[in-house]
Amino acid sequence: MRSQLHLGLFIQETGHHIAGWREPQAAVNAGRDFRHQVELARLAEAACFDLLFIQDSYAMRGANDIDALQHTARSTHWDPITALSALAMVTERIGLVGTATTTYNEPYTLARHFASLDHISQGRAGWNLVTSNNEAEALNFSRDQHALHGERYARAEEFLSVVKGLWDTWEDDAFVEDQAAGQFFDPAKLHVLNHRGEYFSVKGPLTLARPPQGHPVLVQAGSSDTGKRLGATTADVIFSAQQNLEAALGFYASMKALAAEAGRDPDQLLIMPGLLPVVAATQAEAEDKFAALQEQVLPKVGLATLATTLGEVDLSGYDLDGPLPDLPEANGPKSRRQLLIDMARRDNLTIRQLYQRVVGARGHLTVIGTPSHVADVMQQWLEERAADGFNIMPAHLPVGLRDFTEQVVPELQRRGLFRTAYQGNTLREHLELQRPAHRHAR
Ligand SMILES: Cc1cc2nc3c(=O)[nH]c(=O)nc-3n(C[C@H](O)[C@H](O)[C@H](O)COP(=O)(O)O)c2cc1C
Repeated sequence: MRSQLHLGLFIQETGHHIAGWREPQAAVNAGRDFRHQVELARLAEAACFDLLFIQDSYAMRGANDIDALQHTARSTHWDPITALSALAMVTERIGLVGTATTTYNEPYTLARHFASLDHISQGRAGWNLVTSNNEAEALNFSRDQHALHGERYARAEEFLSVVKGLWDTWEDDAFVEDQAAGQFFDPAKLHVLNHRGEYFSVKGPLTLARPPQGHPVLVQAGSSDTGKRLGATTADVIFSAQQNLEAALGFYASMKALAAEAGRDPDQLLIMPGLLPVVAATQAEAEDKFAALQEQVLPKVGLATLATTLGEVDLSGYDLDGPLPDLPEANGPKSRRQLLIDMARRDNLTIRQLYQRVVGARGHLTVIGTPSHVADVMQQWLEERAADGFNIMPAHLPVGLRDFTEQVVPELQRRGLFRTAYQGNTLREHLELQRPAHRHAR
């Protein structure tokens, strides 16, 4: 168990709340003016965050409902690898984590991308491995249909083992660069992968030296049984969405148990749920702030956000003030969809009440209150073993991040729950994760 929290900044261009972009101080053009991302990275680094995280989708989310989408700021977002490479040059310590899907990529490409980012940033890269939760991605990759859930995960597993094999092409000290002897590398320390499997055939070698971290930090965010198993056996960090302490305790315990079953040290698998903070000097002020955001949500936007989070279901024919209907099986994200269905049934919510809960944090924890209240919740989750840290999801940017770094971070530091200066240089060092030893290809 960790004695201090690990913090990530989960970047959504204008902020996580669907109406956050309408807040007067929000950076409305953050999806097309990159200087805003630079500002966020610097703010998070000044507050000693472990990492920043850029999500991704290879298709526009909610594009089948342009009528609703036109009222949100969700239609543009940066390519993570390009953006993180640029951010690497304007920061020095903060970890840089980006999403990349195994469903619409090839392992050789992603092995190069993340190895390059790790070198460019001198050991600060992380890969959030996803299998794509947006079915529309298929249509941008010459396919008619998204691959099935089980198949996506089978491909992901083999994909990852190939990527790791490619990262281990070279031993750490393979490049002797002996100018006098005319010897550039030691051929005994070059390992050609020669992989032939069910989905991939990849010879190697990779044209990049072993990454500074050995392997970039591996993050996973699937919470279905298959997703959890892959995460527990292979990931360094799990991003998750948990509504309350009870659910988070269960998830945390089950992930640590699965890691132990797989023969791993459970302390080398970190669980970081999302947290949307709404902070103000008094509880009433914070609640007013949140209510003001909620009031800006148009019903059609709320409904569309809910439909997207449930996996692009069609809710248009239903009464907003009636219950959530039984939904047909879907091939999209399993765990988040179930979380919302369970929430609706448990709390007897109408469709409108359910979308009101989703438009902010999309199923992640929302904490509204004073800096000390937010810190209390974070401390409780750490101490009771519901989280090793949090992915902070400001409602609107950059102000929501500034509220957190100026008000909550000092409170956490006063309590000894968060660093006041970086100790290490690499993301693995910030997260207290071991550097993987080199493994020879067969
Ligand atoms: C914090 C967080 C970030 C995520 N980021 C992405 C993302 O950028 N792209 C994506 O396709 N899915 C993303 N996901 C979704 C998951 O990776 C996964 O696709 C989803 O949970 C469905 O997988 P499951 O069926 O195993 O639960 C994210 C999930 C969480 C909790």
